[in-house]
Amino acid sequence: MNKKIFGSSEKLAEAFAEVFEKICDEYILKIGIVNIALSGGTTPKLFFEILSKKYIDKLDWSKINFYWADERCVPPESDESNHGEADRILFSKIHSKKNVYPVNGNNDPVNEAVRYSELLEKNLPFKNNFPRFDIILLGMGEDGHIASIFPDQMNLLTSEKICEVAVHPVSQQKRITLTGIVIKNPDRIFFLVTGRSKAEVVKEILKKKNIFEKYPASHITPTHGKSEWYLDSEAADLL
Ligand code: 6PG
Repeated sequence: MNKKIFGSSEKLAEAFAEVFEKICDEYILKIGIVNIALSGGTTPKLFFEILSKKYIDKLDWSKINFYWADERCVPPESDESNHGEADRILFSKIHSKKNVYPVNGNNDPVNEAVRYSELLEKNLPFKNNFPRFDIILLGMGEDGHIASIFPDQMNLLTSEKICEVAVHPVSQQKRITLTGIVIKNPDRIFFLVTGRSKAEVVKEILKKKNIFEKYPASHITPTHGKSEWYLDSEAADLL
C-alpha cells in the first residue's frame, strides 16, 4: 500500500490539499466534474480548514460534488455532525453550495439510508454495478474503523446495499454509512490517519501483522483504483 509520512498533521493536511487540488483540476479538465466522498474526524477537519484558508479562490467549487462516506444521525447544528462541521469550517465560506449533498441527520435512519442510496444511484456513474466516486477521503478510528463500519459490524463491508444504518459500538449512536463495496469502488482512496493512538493499528494493517483482518480498514483495498495512506510521524511511529 502506498504511504506518505509527514512531520505533523498540519503538514499532512497541507500536502493533501495540494494533491486534492491537482486531482480535482485533472477530473474537471477531463470530464468536467469530480465526485468526492468525505469523512468526519480530526484529520479531515484539518484538511477542510486548509481549503477554507488557502483554496477558496483556487478551486472551481461549482464542479466539485461533495458527498459523505458516513454521517451521524444528529441534527446538522450538532458538533457531532460531519456535514455540520464541514459546513461551518468550509462550505459556509463558498458561495455555491448547490453541489453539496449531505446525509440528513434529522431523518429516520432507515429511511435516510434508502434516500441517500437512491441519491447516489441517481447522481453517480457506476462501476462494478455500484456507484463510483472519483475520490474518497477516509479517517481511521483507533479500533480500525473507517466511515462508520466498526469491527463489530464487519457485515457492512460486504453488504450489497449502497448505504446502511450502523451503530457506534460504545455510544450506540446511529450512523448512516457507505458500505464496503462502495468505499472500495473509487479511483482514488485516501486514508488520512494521525496520532500516536493509531500507530499500533497502522502497523498491523500495513505490515499485515497479527489478526490485522479484524480491522475494517484492512479490507478497504481498491477494486480498480489506487489507495494511499497519508500518515503523520506519530501514526507511522511503529512502521
Ligand atoms: C466519523 C468518521 C470516522 C472518522 C474516524 C477517525 O464519522 O466518525 O467518518 O470514520 O474518520 O473515526 O476520526 P479521527 O480522525 O477524529 O480519529
